[in-house]
Amino acid sequence: MANDRRPDDMVRITTPELANAFIEEQVALLKQQIGDRKVLLALSGGVDSSVVAALLIKAVGQQLVCVHVNHGLLRKGEPEQVIEVFRNQMKANLIYVDATDRFLDKLAGVNDPETKRKIIGNEFIEVFAEEARKLDGVECLAQGTIWPDILESENGIKAHHNAGGLPEDLKFELVEPVKVLFKDEVRMVGTCLGLPDSMVFRQPFPGPGLGVRCPGAITRDRLEAVRESDAILREEFAKNGLEGKVWQYFTVVPDFKSTGIKDGNRAFEWSVIIRAVNTTDAMTAEVENIPFELMQHLVKRITSEVKGVNRVLYDFTPKPTGTIEFE
Ligand code: XMP
Repeated sequence: MANDRRPDDMVRITTPELANAFIEEQVALLKQQIGDRKVLLALSGGVDSSVVAALLIKAVGQQLVCVHVNHGLLRKGEPEQVIEVFRNQMKANLIYVDATDRFLDKLAGVNDPETKRKIIGNEFIEVFAEEARKLDGVECLAQGTIWPDILESENGIKAHHNAGGLPEDLKFELVEPVKVLFKDEVRMVGTCLGLPDSMVFRQPFPGPGLGVRCPGAITRDRLEAVRESDAILREEFAKNGLEGKVWQYFTVVPDFKSTGIKDGNRAFEWSVIIRAVNTTDAMTAEVENIPFELMQHLVKRITSEVKGVNRVLYDFTPKPTGTIEFE
């Protein structure tokens, strides 16, 4: 396929006109590469895979088969948004797999962060491969590889998340329509393809999802406390003009309880930790200065609305010494 590498003189896609020209060119190239074959895509709902899905829907429509695996560690409303945007609005061919029980059963009792990551990664490939084997005649695999992924893998910083992980019996021709784009360009293209801002401009979210925000062994009730408190934090940041201003913000619920009082009774419950940081490259990060009134409001909402939580704490630690995530 043409455009294998980003040409040195490629103009940065900063306007809708440039994005539309890119879309038109890619749609033609995708039609040429794919022909009448079927293409498979793991659609997480993240920016990159969503933009790839939207491009492919435009280019080959129903020849695209999207698989959305819900590993049970997604944020509140995420699987619903993927189904609404891609199946209902864009009429994509979308297979939704609720694999929550499979993942949470495998993770039960597992304390070590890296083992948790490995289990989540391996199980994801396993579930995706099972779905791929059920389909007939799929020859191509689309991926949301972007230009920084290629640069980082060339520089040995990280292995780029390509088809390398799939089992031997699954061999696909790769389709990577945004691989010469930087993140801001992917966003501009996504907007021009009609994807909602909440999908295109969302904050980074790690592959292992809420799993790394439920430190130690994941339990369903603590995971629910992470999910509900995260939803409240996101809602309040959006209402108070912090969405889009703060680089990453989320909640963590460690596996420890403390004594409190609720309705005049002793309440021995968890604490929610709020983390909100700014960074440019995620290598270092500074803590956001959240207005005190907003903090008080968050404390009130989280302690009254999230089951099993009696305290809210704020993490004032920059990176270094703390990493952005807790695990
Ligand atoms: P840390 O915690 O290393 O995070 O300071 C830096 C950035 O990377 C994200 N992160 C991950 N992303 N898989 C991912 O896809 C992971 O296992 C993972 N761990 C951390 C984190 O959210 C932050 O944006």
